[in-house]
Amino acid sequence: MKKLTILLLIAVLAIGGLTTAMAAEPVVVKFAAQGDSTPATQAVIDAFNAAQTAYKVEWVDMTNDSGAMREQLITTLKAGSSEYDVVSLDVVWAGEFAAAGYIQPLDMMMDEAGLKIEDYNAGSMASGSYAGKQYVMPFFPDLGMLYFRSDIVSEEDGAKLIAGDYTWADLQAMAEKYMGQVGAKDGFVFQSALYEGLVCNANEFTANWKDIKGGLEAMKAMIDDKTTPDNIMTYTEGETANSFVKGESVFARNWPYMWGMIKSEGTIKTDQVGIAPLPGGSTVGGWLLAINKNSENTEGAFEFIKFLNSEAGQIVMSQAYLPGFNAMLTNEDVVKNNELLSMEGFQNALKTTTARPVSAEYSKVSDALQQAIHGYLSGTGTVEDAVKGVETALAN
Ligand code: GLC
Repeated sequence: MKKLTILLLIAVLAIGGLTTAMAAEPVVVKFAAQGDSTPATQAVIDAFNAAQTAYKVEWVDMTNDSGAMREQLITTLKAGSSEYDVVSLDVVWAGEFAAAGYIQPLDMMMDEAGLKIEDYNAGSMASGSYAGKQYVMPFFPDLGMLYFRSDIVSEEDGAKLIAGDYTWADLQAMAEKYMGQVGAKDGFVFQSALYEGLVCNANEFTANWKDIKGGLEAMKAMIDDKTTPDNIMTYTEGETANSFVKGESVFARNWPYMWGMIKSEGTIKTDQVGIAPLPGGSTVGGWLLAINKNSENTEGAFEFIKFLNSEAGQIVMSQAYLPGFNAMLTNEDVVKNNELLSMEGFQNALKTTTARPVSAEYSKVSDALQQAIHGYLSGTGTVEDAVKGVETALAN
C-alpha cells in the first residue's frame, strides 16, 4: 500500500514536471511573409524571439510576386486553415481580405495595448480599415523612386534629378549618355514584366493615369531603346536590383529596400548612389500585418505585430525599410540606420506620392491593366488599344 502511494506520488510528480516543461516551450507563431532580399525580416523575427520566451515566430517564406501571393493566401484562408497566424498583405488587397472575413479586427487588442491608429503610417492604416474597424498594422510602407549612380552622372544632371526637374525623355537621354561607364552596361532598369509591379511603373509613367498615351509611349520608347536590357520585359524588382546592386546599370526604378540591399550585398557602395523622385510621381506601396481569423495563437500573433511596430522592432527593420510607426521617422537610431530618410531626393519623392486605383475588386482591375499595357509594350497591340483597355479597366 505504502509502495503504491509512493509510486503514485512519483507518477504525479513526473507528470507535473512534464507539464511544467511543456508550458515552458514557446508557442509557435507562423508568419506568412514574402521573401526578403535583405536581412531585415529574419533579423526582426530573431529580435522578437530573443526578447521574450512565450512565443517563437517562424517565417513561412512566400513568393515575392504580389498577385501570386494573394492567390496563395486566399486558397489557404478561404479553406478556414489555421496554418498561418500572422499574414503579410500588400496594401492594394488588404481591404479585400478584411471584407471577405479572412482576418480579424485589431481594435480591441490595440486598445488594450494602448496603441492608437493615428500614430502609424496613415496610408497603411487606411488600406486595412473596413466598415469602421481596423484590421491591420504596418509591416513597412513603400514608395517608388529613382536610384542613380552619383559617381557617373554629372553634378548638374544629378541636381536636376534630385529636384525632380526632368521628364521621362530627359531620363532616356541621360541613360544613353551615361551607359557603358564604369562597367554600367545598361542605362535604365525598371519593372515591365506581366505582374503587379507593371501597374506601379505604369502609374508613374502615366503620371497617375493623367497622360495614359504619352506615358505608355515613353515606357515603350525606353523598352525599344538600347538603354534598357534586351529582356527588360521580364524584369521584376529582383532583376532590377540584381542589375543595379551589381553596378550594371546607371539608373534604376525600385522601392526603398534596394538601398538596404546595396548596403548588405552591393558591389557598389551607397556613396556611389543618389536618390531622386520620378517624373510622374512615386507609387505608394507597402505591406501590412494582419491576423488570420482562424489563428489559434491570436495573442502571440498580436505580440509579434506589436513588437514589429515598437521602437525596438522598427530600429531593426530600418536597416532596409521605412518606419510605419510615425514617431520613428525622427528616431536617432532609425535615421542613422536608413540614410534615405535624410536625403533630399528621397524627401522630394515623398512629396509626390500617388496611389494605384482604389477598388474593392482591385486584383481584377490590376489584371486588366497589366494585360492592356503588356500587350502594347511587347508589340502585340497598338497604343490606341492599350489606352482603351486602360480606360475601361480604370472605369470598373
Ligand atoms: C512592392 C510594394 C507593393 C507592390 C509590389 C509590386 O512590394 O510594396 O505594394 O504591389 O512592390 O511588385
